[in-house]
Amino acid sequence: MKKASLLVCSDYKIGEVDKFVFGSFIEHLGRAVYGGIYEPAHKNGFRRDVIDLIKQIDVPIVRYPGGNFVSGYNWEDGAGPVQNRPKRLELAWESTETNEFGTNEFVKWCREVGCEPLMAVNLGTRGPDEARNLVEYCNHPGGTYWSDLRISHGYKNPHGIKYWCLGNEMDGDWQMGHKTPLEYGRIANETAKLMKMTDNSIKLVLCGSSSGRTRTFGEWETTVLDLAYDKVDYISLHQYFGNSDGDLRSFLAKGTELDRYIETVIACCDFMQGKRHSRHHIDLSVDEWNVWYHSHGAKFEKWSTAPSILEDIYNFADALVVGSMLLSLLRHCDRVKIACMAQLVNVIAPIMTETGGGVWAQTIFYPYMHASRYGRGSVLLPKAESSTHETKDFTQVPDIDSLAVCDDEKGELTVFAINRDLSDSIPFTVKLIDFPDYAPIEHIEMSGYDLTAVNTANSSPVKPKTQKAPAVESNVFSVKLNPLSWNVFRFKKAT
Ligand code: AHR
Repeated sequence: MKKASLLVCSDYKIGEVDKFVFGSFIEHLGRAVYGGIYEPAHKNGFRRDVIDLIKQIDVPIVRYPGGNFVSGYNWEDGAGPVQNRPKRLELAWESTETNEFGTNEFVKWCREVGCEPLMAVNLGTRGPDEARNLVEYCNHPGGTYWSDLRISHGYKNPHGIKYWCLGNEMDGDWQMGHKTPLEYGRIANETAKLMKMTDNSIKLVLCGSSSGRTRTFGEWETTVLDLAYDKVDYISLHQYFGNSDGDLRSFLAKGTELDRYIETVIACCDFMQGKRHSRHHIDLSVDEWNVWYHSHGAKFEKWSTAPSILEDIYNFADALVVGSMLLSLLRHCDRVKIACMAQLVNVIAPIMTETGGGVWAQTIFYPYMHASRYGRGSVLLPKAESSTHETKDFTQVPDIDSLAVCDDEKGELTVFAINRDLSDSIPFTVKLIDFPDYAPIEHIEMSGYDLTAVNTANSSPVKPKTQKAPAVESNVFSVKLNPLSWNVFRFKKAT
């Protein structure tokens, strides 16, 4: 019989959710910057309609400027008077980069959005010297060559950028300046050293693997960690899931693969900490994650500026997978401290624009927004039980994926639940121990759509519905979760 239950107690927690888990990513790629967040016709060049949607999600940190792009980027090209900035061949995405938008514009945009920058340095074609210069340019108050240059560019106050990535996907042979783990570990360590000598308040993310399925996965992590352990604060994971072979049940179960991937990287970090007898511990930055496959193989004009590439139009099935990826990140909130949905606008993104036209929310926008708005606080240690099923790629997949988050300060409790079953409603019982005065607020649900249903510029049929949350009687609430559904049950403590 298909059924599931979740038991949580207010005193038992997995850990605090770092708000940076709800981060995102903007790369100089396709129409993410040009036509996405930036259009000269708007005030400061920033699209207000896009910022308004980003604020609805409440995105706390945005990684920039890449991605593969950063591995060939000269940051100096994007600083200073716009009319003097060079146009460059951008090799990662076979485009022309105008450099109209650069570091200062990005930081200014972040301030308007209300998010922190997560700045990546180029460790592909460049190295420690350019990276420490960028830290000096951004963070040093003044009186030196690079900091005075920033001031001369109109930015008197230092940007105070705290979070930095040491390159991007350096394990991948597609990456400009791709490296072996030994080569990368050494250059990452030396770069980290110089960057922290320039500003010792910064936090650094070391490149982990570009997916959990690479040939070097595991060996890459332990080697680079061993070489750069004391200088870094996080190690990155990147993970995209696709459904190119059309095996729907395996696709819907992909969140379980992310669980295993995260747990293996945690094991690598802890192994390295033990091996080194170190007190320093390393957290995880899942700084690229999403569904990505619809746009594979799409044609575009080589060397054009801001071409429409990687513009996946997401369907309802993708929203369910994104939901389960978010639950996986939350389930590991004790170690996943940064995560960035890749990306934010137009490029494999929850938000789409028409260049010079309107803006709309894709299907995946909604689970992301719900998790960010209602998934802050502490994830409660669950006793979760569910009937399971087998798929082509996975065994023992829970029919219901669920967890609960409690925000003690706000007095709010949220239960997230996904029913992965293709046809059956499944009874779901939740026992809430030591939540005496919590009353139901609402049940937000996305269900009943064709799995291929999408939102477009002209019509947005796929969006959440809100109904009354079920009553809690003797600490328990019971519901039937609709097949193929994303559910958010919200409760609030009486004041
Ligand atoms: O997000 C798109 C690309 O995916 C990024 O540039 C790269 O880091 C990853 O392979």
